[in-house]
Amino acid sequence: MNLLVTNIHLLVNTRKESNLLRGKQLAELPFFENAYLRIEKGLIKEYGTMDGLTGHGSGEEVYDAKGATVLPAWCDSHTHLVFAGSREGEFVDKINGLSYADIAARGGGILNSAAKLNDTTADDLFDIAWQRLQELMRLGTGAIEMKSGYGLSVEGELKMLRVIKRLKEASPIPVKASFLGAHTYPPAYKNDHQGYINLIVQQMLPVIAEEGLADYIDVFCEEGFFSPEETETICFAGMKLGLKPKIHANQLHVSGGTQIGVKMGAVSVDHLEAMDEAAITALAGSTTIGTLLPTAAFFLRMPFQPARALLNAGCAIALASDYNPGSSPSGNMNLVVSMSCIQLKMLPEEAINAATINGAYAMGLGNELGSITEGKRANLIFTRPIPSIAYLPYAFGSNLVDKVMINGVFI
Ligand code: NIG
Ligand code: FE
Repeated sequence: MNLLVTNIHLLVNTRKESNLLRGKQLAELPFFENAYLRIEKGLIKEYGTMDGLTGHGSGEEVYDAKGATVLPAWCDSHTHLVFAGSREGEFVDKINGLSYADIAARGGGILNSAAKLNDTTADDLFDIAWQRLQELMRLGTGAIEMKSGYGLSVEGELKMLRVIKRLKEASPIPVKASFLGAHTYPPAYKNDHQGYINLIVQQMLPVIAEEGLADYIDVFCEEGFFSPEETETICFAGMKLGLKPKIHANQLHVSGGTQIGVKMGAVSVDHLEAMDEAAITALAGSTTIGTLLPTAAFFLRMPFQPARALLNAGCAIALASDYNPGSSPSGNMNLVVSMSCIQLKMLPEEAINAATINGAYAMGLGNELGSITEGKRANLIFTRPIPSIAYLPYAFGSNLVDKVMINGVFI
């Protein structure tokens, strides 16, 4: 079906050519005022201002946007969407004074989620994750990455990744899969790190490669979890099988994770709450994307990511939700964009670019999504009438997403 969308107040992130944005480039968010948009076979065909529109083609349906602002759907490049149960008990423990690390040390946290996941069937996991995915699509997410990492056993990790594969096949939006077997050490390997790394390398990775279960290899590079050296060993084993590294780095400590990610040519290093000058300089001089997860810092009451320093240094920055039961029980990208403006002092233009076009590049989808560019998928957000682009992150508590279009069809 071909569609002509008319009377768009602002058509946002219009780009003839699509590129990953670095540093100052993120502050430029091109848009058309009083615009139309043509969609053909689910793809963006053409756009311009209403005064340049001369009639419509035969067999073309017309949709009057009535002053909606239209922008590319959010590209959420870091989530742990597949999990078995919530962890609000730990949320209350944190209110009562325990830290994320305290909870992890007493067997809660990731291990709590792993126990729940190993007790849940693949069908149930699929159903819960599917519900979450529908909710996120209605909030404007048009492409998403999902990680394993709550199995921590050969069966558990493969179960998670097979569920993600089913989601990939069933989902109308692109889904990318990351293997995060190295999320933490399971209790049986608490004192045998090499044993668990061998399990990952010798027993999990070959099956993952054989069944095509993952696009990326992820490691939680952090004090008390996986060291930079262990991260490198695990990522190289994945890279040999065609997986690209995309790692958790510099969340709780200045861990060296960013530099290891850069050295390996990682697609992205994610979190980056705890950055020093050396880590910022290494990232700025690389092709690796720095993915900031502000709702995780918010939920854990951690210092926010130094977005201004990263942008001033010329880094390529993406924003993602980190949706997971322990550190960010929300996948709402509208909130991520608002928080980035409010707490990270990103400009609305920078935050929207980081959550759309750069998010797409952080999933290898830069040619398909993230901007209003001819030939890209028509995965779009239609807002309620808003006076300006800055109003979107400004009105942080309101749901301004009126309609969402996926592959040219309203959901
Ligand atoms: O990205 N930091 C490691 N992993 C997740 C949290 C996982 C959990 O607490 O369940 C994160 O924040
Ligand atoms: Fe994460």
